[in-house]
Amino acid sequence: MTQIPIDVDAESFEASLAEMATFVDDTQDGWTRQVFSDPYRGSREFVAAKMRQAGLDVTLDAGGNVVGRLEGRGSKAGVTLKPIMTGSHTDTVRGGGRFDGIVGVLGAIEAVAAMRRSGVTLNRDLYVVDFLGEEPNEFGISCVGSRSLAGVLIPEHLNMIGASGDTLGDTLAKVGINPDSALRNAWAPNSLHAYIELHIEQGPLLEKSGHDIGVVTAIAGIDRLMARFVGRADHAGATPMDGRLDALSAAAAAVLTIEREGCGAPVHGVATTGRIESYPGSFNVVPSEARLWAELRSTDQSWLHGVKGRLAEQIGLEANRRGVSHMIEWLTDQDAVPTEPAIRDRIALCAERLGYTWTPVPSGAGHDAAHMVHLGPMGMIFIPSVGGRSHCPEEFTPIEDIARGIHVLAKTLSELDVTTSLAS
Ligand code: GLV
Ligand code: MN
Ligand code: MN
Repeated sequence: MTQIPIDVDAESFEASLAEMATFVDDTQDGWTRQVFSDPYRGSREFVAAKMRQAGLDVTLDAGGNVVGRLEGRGSKAGVTLKPIMTGSHTDTVRGGGRFDGIVGVLGAIEAVAAMRRSGVTLNRDLYVVDFLGEEPNEFGISCVGSRSLAGVLIPEHLNMIGASGDTLGDTLAKVGINPDSALRNAWAPNSLHAYIELHIEQGPLLEKSGHDIGVVTAIAGIDRLMARFVGRADHAGATPMDGRLDALSAAAAAVLTIEREGCGAPVHGVATTGRIESYPGSFNVVPSEARLWAELRSTDQSWLHGVKGRLAEQIGLEANRRGVSHMIEWLTDQDAVPTEPAIRDRIALCAERLGYTWTPVPSGAGHDAAHMVHLGPMGMIFIPSVGGRSHCPEEFTPIEDIARGIHVLAKTLSELDVTTSLAS
């Protein structure tokens, strides 16, 4: 097992991070770079150039992923070894920050550069991937590129309609990605030796515990729903309070039910209503219709399952009490995904060997890694987020913390390279 010191260039990484932050939509708050936008396209050309500089062969795959390959000694000698993959995403939420996803892509590129500078060579091919559109898009689908690579992008996803009236498939075609090819882009199940992703934690656990590195235990499952309430429009001045069928009040009661269920989760569990709309949307009309969009997350699959049933029942009871009809549509459900114990152990060991402290942490955020688990054993490395803030312009992780994460990533990649079997 190689013990050659790997020398991470934090200054060069910081310069890349700063340059990446120039590819933003100036009409939006924060560092906004949404999938399919012009700044996103520009940023991915920048990523491809950085990959080439680090010595990777770069292609854009049929799922719109920017893929950099570092050929291992095995391939050069004609020996077949399962490859290793690392990566993340460079799109952001609207009004987002400079670190979510970006650290995993630019950090992986720096890890490759650092290994090469330090004379660490790998037996296996190493792939660094900037996955297409990890954040939820206007079509309601997240992780478009990693779903495509993992074989879980399905025709129903491509038929989902966005705000402009186009489908996801139409939009892919407009940016030069053939939607049928995106459906046929999957790598074979178990074709990867390992998938590792470096990411900011996006929550407060690491900062509170004072540890340098989080070894992710599981990625939360996510259930998303849209609830629609239909009441009756009436004059807001002349209709007595007890004679109304107020759709928005029924939706508001549902928002509080969703929050109450999240607060009652026994272990890691959260519930959020992110958007609500009402019609006709006037001061002086009792709302006749309302819609809300919400999600539940937990690493505890049984809580997630139970809360779905309880929510449907309580939302229904309250709507009925108000004489409002309702409908709940479950939009997506992604099961909780545990990480591979052997990879967790290896990350922890590498952190210790480098003199860094570590602790196990769950991931409340979703990640491309949750899909890549279809292709092989998966693990994630977290670094702290200041104040636990993320998906906002204040998102921040000091460069020294990021350098530690890149260091652990590079060492873990080099050690996994010579580890024979990882799957449990
Ligand atoms: C992605 O950042 C998510 O967790 O929604
Ligand atoms: Mn995110
Ligand atoms: Mn992310």
